[in-house]
Amino acid sequence: MEPLLRIEDLQVNFHTTQGVAQAVCGVNYHIDPGEVLGVVGESGSGKSVTALAVLGLVPHPGRIAGGRIRYRERDLLNLPAKELRKVRGDRISMIFQEPMISLNPAFTIENQLTEALRTHRSISKQEARNRAVEMLAMVDIPDPAKRIRDYPHHLSGGMRQRVMIAEALLLDPDVLLADEPTTALDVTVQASVLDLMRRLNERIGTAIMLITHNLGVVAESAKRVVVMYCGRVVEQGAVGEIFGNAAHPYTRGLLKSIPRPGGSELYEMKGIVPSILELPQGCPFHPRCPQAMPRCVREQPPWRELAAEHHALCWLYE
Ligand SMILES: Nc1ncnc2c1ncn2[C@@H]1O[C@H](COP(=O)(O)OP(=O)(O)O)[C@@H](O)[C@H]1O
Ligand SMILES: [Mg+2]
Repeated sequence: MEPLLRIEDLQVNFHTTQGVAQAVCGVNYHIDPGEVLGVVGESGSGKSVTALAVLGLVPHPGRIAGGRIRYRERDLLNLPAKELRKVRGDRISMIFQEPMISLNPAFTIENQLTEALRTHRSISKQEARNRAVEMLAMVDIPDPAKRIRDYPHHLSGGMRQRVMIAEALLLDPDVLLADEPTTALDVTVQASVLDLMRRLNERIGTAIMLITHNLGVVAESAKRVVVMYCGRVVEQGAVGEIFGNAAHPYTRGLLKSIPRPGGSELYEMKGIVPSILELPQGCPFHPRCPQAMPRCVREQPPWRELAAEHHALCWLYE
């Protein structure tokens, strides 16, 4: 099967006053039609910047310094702005981590949803409204024909998140990039929003890239998992391999840090994510790695295949 979206050797730099920071450094991964892909890693690993690059939305002072992003037969990095705008929001949509760029408080839910529809499709106001009500029902908003007249502040956090998902799916996209879609929600609401996304994926077949700093979140949702650290993919594999047979010491650390109900003291990985302006030599994880060897300090680790479609960026498998 041809991947739907393929990120190849992506490099994104931020040109800051303190120097050039490599936020995304040779990232490769793909998403297949209709699948749920988990992208995990601590805060600052480059998950959001990679997703923003897909849509041509890397913020200033960031620059894409290399690589390709293939969507079907097109390279999104070389698409004219007008065509990219058509792909964005129509074929590929995103739920942002930043609450700022989410719902506009000055407009009713109806305004926000129908505007997106009417920008991309030539349909009447009434048709747009019907479609919006139908989507709100699909994301389990009770009494959608009435709720559509509300302003965002009338809704709870969980309901607002459902509206954002509805908005992202209105145009029936091929891929939804969901950047920390449940992080701002409390735990019980998180579970129901994740469950909703899973059901929508099964029902309408939109591929979902589920980005999260919490490996626990992808356990039940994703088919495959990509683990990122310091702008690199350090491991990727089927969800069963990652949870049952994690190869990279970073992934193992993340797994041990997942809170468990009734679990005792929470494991904390030693050290902190280094600044991308001062990345250590060799493997960027070596200062925190319980299995670091002398060569990890000196040389960049290789990308090794461990099993079918299970890879890790680590000297342990040399
Ligand atoms: N606007 C920006 N200016 C400078 N650095 C940035 C900017 N946005 C992101 N970065 C840096 O890029 C790196 C990756 O960030 P990000 O993709 O947001 O991480 P994640 O989503 O995994 O938490 C981080 O080191 C972050 O500090
Ligand atoms: Mg992020």
